Amino acid sequence: MDTCSSAIDPPFVIETFDHFIFPEIPMRFLAAASLMFLAACGAPDAGDTDAPKVAPVLTSDDARDDQTFAQPELARVTHIDLDLDLDFDKQMVSGSAMLDILADKGVDTVILDDDGLTIDTVTDADGKPLEYEVGAVVEGKGAPLTITMGDAREITINYSASDAAALQWLSPAQTAGGEHPYLLSQGQATLNRTWIPTQDSPGIRQTWSARITAPEDLTVVMSGLAADEPEAVEPKEGEKPRRAFTFEMDKPVAPYLIAIAAGDIVFKELGPRSGVWSEPSMIEAAAAELSDTEAMIDAAEKLYGEYRWGRYDMIVLPPAFPYGGMENPVMTFLTPTFIAGDRSLTGLVAHELAHSWSGNLVTNANWTDSWLNEGVTSYFENRIVEEIYGKERADQEAALSFASIEETLAEVGPDAAGTALHQPVNTDPVGSAIVYDKGAFFLRTVESIVGRERFDAWLQQWFDNHAFQPATSAMILADMEKNLVADEAEAEKLKLREWIYEPGLPDNVARPDPAAFAEVDSAAEAFSAERDLDVDAWGEWTSAERQRFLAKIPRELNEADLAALDDALSLTASTNNEELFLWLELAMQNRYEAAVPATETFLANVGRRKFVAPLFEALMEQGAWGQAIAKRTYAKTRPSYHSVTQGTVDGLVLS
Ligand code: BES
Ligand code: ZN
Repeated sequence: MDTCSSAIDPPFVIETFDHFIFPEIPMRFLAAASLMFLAACGAPDAGDTDAPKVAPVLTSDDARDDQTFAQPELARVTHIDLDLDLDFDKQMVSGSAMLDILADKGVDTVILDDDGLTIDTVTDADGKPLEYEVGAVVEGKGAPLTITMGDAREITINYSASDAAALQWLSPAQTAGGEHPYLLSQGQATLNRTWIPTQDSPGIRQTWSARITAPEDLTVVMSGLAADEPEAVEPKEGEKPRRAFTFEMDKPVAPYLIAIAAGDIVFKELGPRSGVWSEPSMIEAAAAELSDTEAMIDAAEKLYGEYRWGRYDMIVLPPAFPYGGMENPVMTFLTPTFIAGDRSLTGLVAHELAHSWSGNLVTNANWTDSWLNEGVTSYFENRIVEEIYGKERADQEAALSFASIEETLAEVGPDAAGTALHQPVNTDPVGSAIVYDKGAFFLRTVESIVGRERFDAWLQQWFDNHAFQPATSAMILADMEKNLVADEAEAEKLKLREWIYEPGLPDNVARPDPAAFAEVDSAAEAFSAERDLDVDAWGEWTSAERQRFLAKIPRELNEADLAALDDALSLTASTNNEELFLWLELAMQNRYEAAVPATETFLANVGRRKFVAPLFEALMEQGAWGQAIAKRTYAKTRPSYHSVTQGTVDGLVLS
């Protein structure tokens, strides 16, 4: 495909024009966009992609993002150019962000998101100072940074960021190597405004480039392609040698997808377009665990169309990383806790890879529709798992996912507003089971009614027709009605609107095959009734089966039961972190003293919120016994957690 001629495909703009706002009249927009694109043509382009340089923004009410101060209908950022220095001693980034602004003639202000940045100057392209004002801080949202730009359309912000909530600065002791510090970032959902001054909304896509300087013994990676070899920087008097790394993301992305990591890291190739970074001591284990990656990319492409981002690299971070994975474009961020030695937890990789379509290509316009990112991705993940590992594993993982929907509905009630896929504003969040698992089961249900062939064709056209654009629940519903549903009768069967907008689980849900866990469920019953344990069977089970067993056995167990379980199944010694976590949680829920040291060690070593928060919660629910352990442990471990994990655990332990 010829990237240049297809970049601004007129139908792209015209067909979708109703939905979008452009700050200028259509013809001027087209002209401006084409020019901007032509200027970029001829530059090396990694991916065979028809990404526009300037992506549209939605204007409808349901697409408004109330977590940004930006007013993109007046003035919007289209490109960010970062020039930043990493200071590990001060735990600070400093430098400049040069922003390209698209706005009508006569519009003289632009509003950015700023959460705690220290702004030194704001200037136009000629270095002339521009007036700016930082407004009142709103909790969790930061403050509006309003810049009076006059007719300038290129503005430079000189700034620094210390204490940025997105950034975690690890001491050498928190790394595997123990000798060098490490930096990692986590942008989703609204944290990137703590280190990048821009319009931080998933519906306002921007291209970006960066030059990052760091101490010479560290390597920097970002969620964009490396533009050049790292270059030595002339050190200032008394300063240690540094290197500069350059990156480019030439496709417009939502700003939460800008990410950085720096440390003593090395790279190992996995396939022609994939590879993995990690600290040297982990690289072989990481590469072995990720050896199915290239096959996963091929499978994903076969399912839903071309991978449009060029390379797919990953970085296996230190265990302080607060999530399992984060789908940063061309550089998925992964927790090392998924490494089990047998590729049993690589659904995580399938998931982050799938986001290259659902989330990164087609992006929720605001976070009330995050099921469009996470639910569609969880469905897609399971399809990749089926291709790579077979239907049995895929069915088992789907059955685990279904169980978490049921568990959540039992907990919050099937009428809780937050159990609708489209999350109403100002409702209590009910956890990931709705947007991830109910989202995935929505698509499984649709697939089961219309058949896989029609479903897959529909989903692929959804990705293709909305590539590099934001989307809403209303848009996917309208798209299904237009491009998928055959007739009235089928519409009635599908209950699309109920799935998206109503709480609870519609009665047409395609339940997982009960056969998926038939054996393990009867083993769990045998344990419940007679305390029977079949050690040989456990030894042969898949990780999903073991997780199912640990979730199905009684929640209340006495010390002898727990000792027998651990003795027979060596749970405390498990090298599978999902299984180890389920065991430690169960043990703490039952005040099982013998597992306290292992729990404390786990909490000291791992910062992944999904594991850390429930363990602290389990302890806090155990009265004085558990609260003492939780408080004493957290006093030690809190400084080693990312702000994301700290925020959740603070609410559990410190309040
Ligand atoms: N994009 C998410 C992580 C995320 C979600 C960060 C919401 C911030 C706010 C990522 O793709 C994800 O879903 N990670 C999961 C793994 C997955 C297999 C369910 C995780 O981290 O556990
Ligand atoms: Zn996800």
